[in-house]
Amino acid sequence: MSRLERIMLLETLLAKPREYLLAHDDHILDESLLERYRKLLTMRAEGHPMAYLTGHREFFGLRFEINRAVLIPRPETEWLVHAAIRLLPEHGTAIDLGTGSGVIAVALAHCRHDARLLACDISDKALELAMRNAQQILGPDHRLRFERSDWWEAVPMLGLALALANPPYLSHDDPHLEQGDLRFEPRLALSDQGDGLGAIEAIMEGFKHRSRIGLIEDPGLLFIEHGYQQAEAVKALGESKGLYHGFEAIDLAGHPRVSCFGLRPPKADVLDRLKDASLTWSSGTA
Ligand SMILES: C[S@@+](CC[C@H](N)C(=O)[O-])C[C@H]1O[C@@H](n2cnc3c(N)ncnc32)[C@H](O)[C@@H]1O
Repeated sequence: MSRLERIMLLETLLAKPREYLLAHDDHILDESLLERYRKLLTMRAEGHPMAYLTGHREFFGLRFEINRAVLIPRPETEWLVHAAIRLLPEHGTAIDLGTGSGVIAVALAHCRHDARLLACDISDKALELAMRNAQQILGPDHRLRFERSDWWEAVPMLGLALALANPPYLSHDDPHLEQGDLRFEPRLALSDQGDGLGAIEAIMEGFKHRSRIGLIEDPGLLFIEHGYQQAEAVKALGESKGLYHGFEAIDLAGHPRVSCFGLRPPKADVLDRLKDASLTWSSGTA
């Protein structure tokens, strides 16, 4: 365990900033604090993720509360926010399907004050946390609407310009489920308990259905984050549902990680904005 992690755990335990710890390095912990600190160190040594031990994680430059009911947000997911900032029409509506801690919807709302946003999840505990994050980061008058929904099932019948999702995409027998942080994260957030494409398929079908009944508005794009080896399968699935595969965002490790689908081929200006989102993201100039 690194010195930095030990300091971060001490910050959590004492609820004091790092500057305080450095300025009081002769402070002696009393027996009960020492006991709690040892427990945190042991849990970390056993592999418990830092985000669960400290109770927070940064995403898009914002500090989110995190707990064991939700996935720990990953940097790859920030691309969805970069793309949505550029593509959501003024006063347009976007949906974040499987919002977890709320990172995508809250970060987008933070950058686009005009946006109308829906954030959905099947997990009550995730929704509770996402609502707290929205209050904490955006303030009490935020314009995010939360719904408990099995993908599209209970999503209000509103016109949507963008749909964003980072769904559970690991197959039930993916060996990564038994490794690293994933051992401690909720299975519901990681795997569809099938071949890894079940949630993605349900999201595509719902998007297609909404378009048939006239509820998908311009530019009418669906962004799906997926596994680094799933790009081909996700593209084929989208095309089999009659969706047009318009763009693929490449993560910092060089893997295609987000696929963008539309009801028709993207216009040149849409493609330009998607490329711009990729450049901003990969150069870290957001
Ligand atoms: C990979 S996590 C993504 C969380 C968050 N959006 C992020 O990027 O950090 C997937 C989320 O989908 C939710 N989920 C799983 N099955 C669902 C379903 N049938 N309907 C709606 N949400 C679901 C999980 O509870 C989880 O919060």
